[in-house]
Amino acid sequence: MIDQQTIGKILDTADIVDVVSDYVTLKKRGVNYIGSCPFHNEKTPSFTVSPSKGICKCFGCGAGGNAVNFIMELENMSYPEALKQLARKYNIPIEEKELSDEEKKEKSKLESLRIITDFAGKYFNNALLNSEEGIAIGLSYFKEREVYRTTIDKFQLGYCSNKGAEFTENAKKNGYKEELLTELGLTKKGQYSSFDFFKGRVIFPIHNLSGHVIAFGGRTLKKTKEIAKYFNSPESPLYHKSDVLYGIYQAKRSITSTDKCYLVEGYTDVTSLHQAGVENVVASSGTALTKGQIRLIKRFTQNITILYDGDAAGIKAALKGIDLVLEQGMNVKVVLLPEGEDPDSFSKSQSHTELLAYINDQEKDFIHFKSELLLKDAKQDPVKRAEATRSIIDSISKVSDTFLRTEYVRTTSIIMKIKEDILNNEVRKRIHKIIEKENKQQFNLPSTESNRQFSPSQSEVKDYNEFGKEYFNTIEVALLKYLIKYGNNNLEIENDIHEIEIKTVAQYIFDELMIDEINFTNEIYADIFLRAFEYHRVEGKISQDFFIKHTDPYISKVSSDIIVSKYELSQLYEKQDIVIEKEERKLSELIPNNIIIYKSRSLNKLSKEIERKIKLISNTKPLDIEKENELLIQQQKIKNAIQKMSGLINRVIP
Ligand code: CTP
Ligand code: MN
Repeated sequence: MIDQQTIGKILDTADIVDVVSDYVTLKKRGVNYIGSCPFHNEKTPSFTVSPSKGICKCFGCGAGGNAVNFIMELENMSYPEALKQLARKYNIPIEEKELSDEEKKEKSKLESLRIITDFAGKYFNNALLNSEEGIAIGLSYFKEREVYRTTIDKFQLGYCSNKGAEFTENAKKNGYKEELLTELGLTKKGQYSSFDFFKGRVIFPIHNLSGHVIAFGGRTLKKTKEIAKYFNSPESPLYHKSDVLYGIYQAKRSITSTDKCYLVEGYTDVTSLHQAGVENVVASSGTALTKGQIRLIKRFTQNITILYDGDAAGIKAALKGIDLVLEQGMNVKVVLLPEGEDPDSFSKSQSHTELLAYINDQEKDFIHFKSELLLKDAKQDPVKRAEATRSIIDSISKVSDTFLRTEYVRTTSIIMKIKEDILNNEVRKRIHKIIEKENKQQFNLPSTESNRQFSPSQSEVKDYNEFGKEYFNTIEVALLKYLIKYGNNNLEIENDIHEIEIKTVAQYIFDELMIDEINFTNEIYADIFLRAFEYHRVEGKISQDFFIKHTDPYISKVSSDIIVSKYELSQLYEKQDIVIEKEERKLSELIPNNIIIYKSRSLNKLSKEIERKIKLISNTKPLDIEKENELLIQQQKIKNAIQKMSGLINRVIP
């Protein structure tokens, strides 16, 4: 229990910009700060922090609140836990009265797990520095590997006794349940008794962004090849491997200030580079690089440099990494080290200046890296050269930013001596393939037995993937396509009083979206939509040529892509054994259905946002009953609207 006075002090002291900066790099924008939202994946930063109001808010997904709300939501913490974390950050002593047994029981499991990993981290570190065995075995190992004492402290390195179950026994003595120790992978059940999973190993604790220990890596000191060099903690409620990077806590400030992050493979690569003065470095450690890990870096910088061993395995991993980074809309460079060297060994064989000079000289953007690598192999062999071009084009197609893609194509054209047009054509083909694949995945809905009983309220909720871009993009593309391609066609629509009305496609789409004040979520699509609206207002019709021959090459390019897009809702009906006619003859059915689905998706998003707010409010004390009521009413209204929508789809004239 924390007393009210302390709570007040914590809330007064916690500076929202400072707190959020632990998790996201913020840039000043007017009176506010802005950054990449840590709650959802986004291309352009929409996470805004207002120091004067003391709150943060994401305009993309609705997440946010004050400093405590923010910590609770991001760290998945209870209210008191979040307060304690802030108190620690600002050195505010907490007057906490002894917990009663009842209160101890009430501690959430997550909280208990966090307390145990924290205990274990300190225990192993202390064993390394202060126990006889730790000093003799662990510490001398680190000395031999030239790991400084400052590095041991910075990374909280440790040692786990080889005696068998020393750690486990001590943890149990401290009142920690064996069941939880096992769940965290710290303790293993043997045939006769339990033992320490990391026994006889030096320990690399893995910290989350706020510096809590959440998992461990343990390196064996034995030289034999039979046992695994590293043991790693298993997945646990605290540790989701694919979203964690080793060293991110120690690196984040430096990543922000240098606006760049080096990516290496191992624990020792991270610690040694720190010793060499390079602090903006993280490792994927023990897993192949994942999307989640790249998104974590993206909160702090757009620029990643992959720093791998120059052997075949390192090159292969680098090539994979490049595409992953590009897919997240970030910039990627590569430095290959001499074969057989990893950043750890290399940094020790060089002076600091030599190391930095090497990294700076050898750093290549991904196109130069790939082309040099692949052309070296291909020489003048035309088949192999074509292969190399194809591989580079594959990577470029992963880039979603049109301007950047154009730049990359230009560079490739110069290096590979191939005309830009030809390259552009190839890039486009691949992008279409990617979109098609995404569409297929998204609309792979289970078919229902009854015809057209497609209820957005059910299927759509299931289909809902936390504001994934496809959730709105595909339908936005479809609607724009109908608008640009068939805007002047007539549509027969049944109105509210069951009369048949005739409207043009354009008029219908504008009326429907404007009435509910719906704006497209995708910036480019929203832009094109508004231009179409303006044109239609002045000219009274839609002109496909206006878009395709637009003087802004960007508009014309995207519009053409939209017009040729393959997405058709009719795919849905095909499964339900309805004869497919030509798209144009089914507009009266396709367009209203698309509109209804789009609206119900917008409502779903809104409903999620409100749900999130309700959760936040009901977790915040004192409870704001008025506000909660207001939100509950809003939520009910949305639910009713969604229900109404699901009925509407049957009203559409086939
Ligand atoms: N790794 C692992 N399990 C193994 C081997 C490796 O999880 N059995 C992970 C570790 O995170 C390790 C990284 O892969 O840091 C790179 O492996 P490797 O290059 O073999 O180890 P180093 O980091 O170079 O370790 P050391 O320098 O101590 O040999
Ligand atoms: Mn190594």
